[in-house]
Amino acid sequence: MKVTGRFISFEGGEGAGKSTQVRLLAEALGRSGRDVVATREPGGAPGAEAVRALLVEGDPDRWEPLTETLLHVAARHEHVRRLIVPALARNAWVISDRFADSTMAYQGYGLGVDRAVVSKLNQFAVGTLRPDVTFMLDISVEDGLARASRRVGFETRYERMGRAFHARLRAGFLDIAAHEPDRCAVVPAAGGIDQVHGLIKQALARRLGVQL
Ligand code: TMP
Repeated sequence: MKVTGRFISFEGGEGAGKSTQVRLLAEALGRSGRDVVATREPGGAPGAEAVRALLVEGDPDRWEPLTETLLHVAARHEHVRRLIVPALARNAWVISDRFADSTMAYQGYGLGVDRAVVSKLNQFAVGTLRPDVTFMLDISVEDGLARASRRVGFETRYERMGRAFHARLRAGFLDIAAHEPDRCAVVPAAGGIDQVHGLIKQALARRLGVQL
């Protein structure tokens, strides 16, 4: 069977603009005639969306770090099995707003859960599935939190976790990217929406040979 679909993930800290960039890339790929599934984590399947509410609402110290890790990984397994794998099997392009690197950055680097444990749990949840490309949207902690706080109406648990936490997870994402340069493209995200979208399209052309 000829595989034409691809799996793309977007990663980054708070306020990096991932959701907007996921939407713009999904629209551009859709206009080019591809079957596109845009999704998110935690979430993307009914059970995983129910778990999401447990994770993004409430006090920052609502969960033990390992419990929180297990919940993210459980939601991921559901997402992979119920949505991502079936979509890839019909050759769709899947674009996920966050994936396994978020657990490594937030719970591993950010909350201090043993990174070997996070890696093993991610392996259980996703098996051999890997994104073909991961866009790491990178922005300073100050700019990211300022942008996130301008989003009207809500603030997630993670936005309340303090500057030092956010600095650790930014360093974590960059460390992950440095260790897997073939998969990860670091995209400076402080610029305007169209500029960042342009950088993403350039990186996609270089990495997957797709001109949009
Ligand atoms: P978002 O939709 O704004 O990205 O919110 C999801 C939040 O969940 C975000 O603050 C990052 C956090 N998160 C983790 O801590 N670990 C994970 O594995 C994932 C997928 C998300």
